[in-house]
Formats: sequence, structure tokens, C-alpha cells
Amino acid sequence: MQKKKMITAALPYANGPVHIGHLAGVYIPADVYARFQRRLGSDVAFICGSDEHGIPITIRAKKEGVTPQDIVDKYHSIIKKSFEDLGISFDEYSRTSSENHKKTSQDFFLKMYEKGKFTEEISEQYYDEQAGEFLADRYIVGTCPNCGNDGAYGDQCEKCGTTLSPSELINPKSALSGNIPILKETKNWYLPLNEYENFLNEWIIEGHKDDWKPNVYGQVKSWLNDGLKPRAMTRDLNWGVQVPLPDAEGKVLYVWFDAPIGYISFTKEWAEKNGKNWKDYWQSNDSDLIHFIGKDNIVFHCIIFPAMMKAHGDYIMPTNVPAFEFLNLENDKISTSRNWAVWAHEYVEEFPGQQDVLRYALLSSAPETKDNNFTWKDFQTKNNSELVGIFGNFINRVAVLVHKYYDGVIPTGNENAEELSEISKTAKEINEYLSKYEFRNALSALMNLARFGNQYLQTEEPWKTIKDQPEKAANSLFVGAQIAVGLAQLCEPFMPFSSEKLLNMFNTEKISWQEVENAKVLVKTGHQINESSLLFSKIEDETIDFQIQKLENTKQSNAKTNPKANPMKEEITFDDFTKIDLRTATILEAEKVEKADKLLKLKVDTGVDVRTVVSGIAESFTPEEIIGKQVMILLNLAPRKIRGIESQGMLLLTTKPDGKLSFVTPDETVENGIEIG
Ligand code: MF3
Ligand code: ZN
Repeated sequence: MQKKKMITAALPYANGPVHIGHLAGVYIPADVYARFQRRLGSDVAFICGSDEHGIPITIRAKKEGVTPQDIVDKYHSIIKKSFEDLGISFDEYSRTSSENHKKTSQDFFLKMYEKGKFTEEISEQYYDEQAGEFLADRYIVGTCPNCGNDGAYGDQCEKCGTTLSPSELINPKSALSGNIPILKETKNWYLPLNEYENFLNEWIIEGHKDDWKPNVYGQVKSWLNDGLKPRAMTRDLNWGVQVPLPDAEGKVLYVWFDAPIGYISFTKEWAEKNGKNWKDYWQSNDSDLIHFIGKDNIVFHCIIFPAMMKAHGDYIMPTNVPAFEFLNLENDKISTSRNWAVWAHEYVEEFPGQQDVLRYALLSSAPETKDNNFTWKDFQTKNNSELVGIFGNFINRVAVLVHKYYDGVIPTGNENAEELSEISKTAKEINEYLSKYEFRNALSALMNLARFGNQYLQTEEPWKTIKDQPEKAANSLFVGAQIAVGLAQLCEPFMPFSSEKLLNMFNTEKISWQEVENAKVLVKTGHQINESSLLFSKIEDETIDFQIQKLENTKQSNAKTNPKANPMKEEITFDDFTKIDLRTATILEAEKVEKADKLLKLKVDTGVDVRTVVSGIAESFTPEEIIGKQVMILLNLAPRKIRGIESQGMLLLTTKPDGKLSFVTPDETVENGIEIG
């Protein structure tokens, strides 16, 4: 029986299109691996889909003023199409908002619940009073206790990679409103990860020391050394899969609980359509489960999801979790929010028919062991010198000469020529590299075969020998044709579009990897080949300059916005605005409030009346310096008692870079009581 290969690629969040960072660090390597396994004859299920729950989606929806469903519908189809266009050969690409996924993840939860695998805990969670919502994960931002990054999220710091919980953030703020949240009690279901430490140690630390990538192994080891804590598997949110329990109104499964189960739900969908049994892939020892992910996903795929599957009881553990580092763009971190990216769907439009160039360029700088960098200049060089100059040039010369001298019929040559062993040698090398997830080495092995072919033609010079040594010329082109077809066969996992064109050109079919490893002759003497066509074409400077200019424009428009500014509050109407009564006023008197370091008690002439306002400005101003100052006042704010003094209104203030306050004032002194609007 063939070994089953259950290959997954991290489910992309449907909150934006995919970019080259995603492609280089997950989807293209995963696709190469899946295609290669198919060629080996493995029984492959290559599964992915959109991750449609979670706070990134709801935040994007808020930003665009639409519903979360609108967001996921839009991006699911954009992402799905980009993958298809780039030849990512998923057997199934589904979505976590499907009914099937809802049921699969609820069943998974219930099974764990019934086995007593959760603990119920009442805890105090941050709550945004203005938004009326609990603030989980990315809804809360603050300073990372580990590295001091002041844009860390409640679940993770993206700068140093630490997993966090909201209570660990310093100076937490609501990402919804920028307000300081309050703490409020709520009940949630926790997975006591600490109880899985022994299991994880044995399985990964002892069992996968040598076959897992050092970056993955090392991260898991350091988490286990630090010790694991129980983690909530439910959230107080209204977007997600409902917790399937009677006392769980308004609660959904944690997105990192439901999303990886997506791999299972989608396998079910695929299996149903194809007459397969999904359990053969997920619950049988004849199956290898392999997760392709980015490094920020390691904890979820090596600790949380395995612990869930262990708790559930019926599942196999992943055989490997090849995680990639990050790809930078022109030496700067790729960022969806700053639009600093090369978007897959834009590439496909701007470089029609050149999908393989991107696949090649991204694979050859895949961030396998450390972060890597993509530059457009580099992309151009890879195309012009490697794909056009070496790979394309070699194949083109062979095809053109076979047509020219032999009417497109493969001439007679030595079937035992020494050079032919380069083909099988390359096939074996690629096999070895890919089984260790070394994509860049595998790709160089492929290119080396093209280089070898080029040099071979260069030394043989059949265009010269054709005149007085026709047998030698025939042999050179016989051997050349074998190498060309070898390349056509072996480039398929990496450059599937070119492989198809080439196999067509040489009028031959895709064969298994083992056949290439064992064969010397791939096209026999007398075999008729088809018309040749150009595989790759030169990319001109203007094309590259256009792309660089596009990024330059992004940089300029980013420079205009303040990255530290809070997101916009909920939209209001003009009528809402006219309810606010803002006036010019003058401070007549000011004095400190006893036993309150921050407060000043002011008498203010509002033009309408003279009233008392208590203001939290004592750390920024002395009473003397503000007497006589013209300010702006919110006149119709309901009076409030502060330290026993009734405050009737609020003065408008802003914060200076040093943290001190500053009054908002008209830029010329005007009468008091003038309306602002
Ligand atoms: N959406 C997540 C991300 O982009 C990945 C989810 S992978 C899954 O980081 F395992 F949860 F599905
Ligand atoms: Zn940090």
C-alpha cells in the first residue's frame, strides 16, 4: 500500500489577499512537496482553505465599515483564485465558515468536553465599556513585557514572537476604541496544556531531535522549558463557531481551536467528493501528517493542536512541521496594513504567463533557516540570467537544432553515454533534498542539470560538428534531448507551467519520479518532437522600475500617516455631531484640588455663564500659568462629581510628544461662547 501523505498549508486569514511572504514561506514549498510526493506515487491529500474567524477579520470589517461575512467572502475568492493562478495544486481549498466545518469543530469540542478534557474557569477579562465587548487577543494592544514593543497584541508580540495573554501586556488599550479597558468576569473553557508537557517532551524533544528543523525544534524546546499554562479555548465574541454548550451564549471557539480543525473538515469534504475515507489520512498509522507553516504558527501546530488531538484521542501526530522564517521585501518587513507587499493577485495580472518566474524566484530565496529578502532587481537577475540564460537557453538550443538538422526527429546516439547518468543523479539529489524539506538545495540541483546541459552543448558544438562529423553531432543532440526531457520531468514540482509546456514540446508524458531516477533514455531515437516555443523571456528594466516605483509610492503615502494613531472610532452622523455643544471660553480662576495630584479646579467664563470645571491637568500646568487662557469647552456634558466637586463641562486637550497636555485653543482670541463646528 502506498503511504498516505496528509499535507496541510496554514489556512490564510481571509482578511486580505496573499503576498509573496505567504507564498515563499508556506504555499510554494508546500506545493512543491505535494507535487513531488504525487510523482513518487504517494497517496496525497493536499489541503488548505480560508481561516474566516478570528479578530483580524472583525477588525478589518470595522475598518472598512462592512460585516465580517462581507470581508471573508471577498478575500476568500481573491485568495482562492491567486492560488489557482499560481499553480498551487490543493486537492481542496475550502473555508471555515462552512456548515461542515462548524459541525466538525463543534463535535471535536464536545468529544473533548465529554472526556473531561477542559477546565471551566471564571476569570477577569478586559472589557471595552464603550464598545460593549470583551477584548480578546488582537482586540487588545499594549507594550510587550518581553521586548518592549509598544504594538504587541493580547495573544502575541509580532516583534519578538512571544505568545502572550492580555493580562501580561503593559498599558493595555482597546484596539476598538483606544480606550483603557476595565476588567470584567466571564467563564471560559481551558485546555490545561501543562498536563501535556510530558507527552510533548517525549514525542518531540526525544522523538524528533534529528528530523525536525532546528528552528522548530528549538522553539518548542524553549516553550517546554519555560513550562506550559492552561489556555482558554473559548472566547467572548460574536464572530466564530458557537461553543456547543447550553450555558455558552455569546461565546465562540477560540480561532486557534477551530482553524486547525479546518484541515480535518476540508479533508472530509475532499474525501466525500472523491470516494475516499478521511480517517485513512488522519487516524491511521499508514499516514504522514505534515504541516507547512510560517514561524509565527509553530506554537499552534506543535503544541496546542497536537494537545487537542491527543485529548480527543483518535488522531495521529504530525510527522513533521516544516516552518519557514519570514521573507522581507526590499529590506523591509512585509506588512499588510502598511501595504508593503507584492500581492499575488497583482503579480498574476502584471506578469501574465510568468507564474513560474515568481515560483522560481521565491523558492530560490525561500526563508528556510533564516529570514530572507526579496528585491525586484534580484527577481530580474534570476529570470534573465538563470531562467532565460541557462535553463531556457539550453532547452531552446536543443529543440531548435533537432528541428533544423533532423526535422524534429530525435537522432541516433549512445544510449549508454556517461553524461546521461547526470539525469538520474539529479533526480536522486532532488529526492534527498526534498525529503529533508531543503527546497533551495533541491532547486539548485535542478539548475545544475541545466548548467551541465549548457556546458555539454558548448563543448560538443554540434553546430560545427554537423558539417564533418555528423554522427558526433547526432550523438550530442541525442544526449542533449535526454537532458532537456530530464529537466522537463524534474522541474514539474517547482515550475509546473513550464514543465507542461516542455513535455508538450518534446511530445512526451509526465512519468514517475522513480522512472526518472532509473532511466537513462527518456526519448528514443526516432521520436518526433513538436514545434518549439520560447519558455522564458527577458524582463526589461522598465518593468522592474515600474514595480520599484509602485513600492516607492507606498512608502510615500505611508510616511504621511502616523503609525501610532489609534484607529478611527465608530462612524457618527452629522446629527450626532450637532448634539455636541462646543464653545470658546476663558479660564478665570484656577486652584489645586486637595489630596489630588492631578486635578485643578477652574472657574470658566463660557459666554453663557460662569461655571466650575474640574480638570485632570495639574501635572501639566500650574494654576498661575493658565489663568486668562482662552480654551474650548464641551458645554453640554452631563455634570459629574469629582472629589466632591461638581464639574460642569470638559476642556479640550491634546497630548504633546513628551506626554504633557496642551490646550486646544482658537488660533486668535475670540469672544467667549462662540460655537465650534
Ligand atoms: N490564519 C493563521 C495565520 O495566518 C493560520 C491558521 S493555520 C490553522 O497565521 F492551523 F489554524 F489553520
Ligand atoms: Zn515582544
